[in-house]
Amino acid sequence: MSAGRVIRQLHRWVSMLFVLTVVANFAAMAVGPPPPWITYAPLLPLALLLPSGLYLFVLPYRARGTPEGSA
Ligand code: HEM
Repeated sequence: MSAGRVIRQLHRWVSMLFVLTVVANFAAMAVGPPPPWITYAPLLPLALLLPSGLYLFVLPYRARGTPEGSA
């Protein structure tokens, strides 16, 4: 598996983890003020999504030849 594929899989699964932490925030807020560890839980997956997402963004431009999908 190439590095790009590994990063893409990481980005995909961490994004689902991020969604779960956001859902947990809304669920906790419905019950009462959430504890700080729930409030800040999305920040860790988001911190992984930012660099992996930026890496996925530059991947087609870094590749030799023309970017994917262009003429
Ligand atoms: C934080 C900044 C983020 C950046 C810069 C970013 C950037 C990107 C880029 C460039 C791609 C590849 C698009 C392509 O060429 O096909 C991608 C794919 C994707 N992103 Fe993000 N993203 C970010 C955050 C998120 C978040 C918050 C979610 C969802 C909660 C998310 C979910 C996904 C998914 C599911 C894919 C498709 C992965 C795959 O092909 O398997 N991303 N993202």
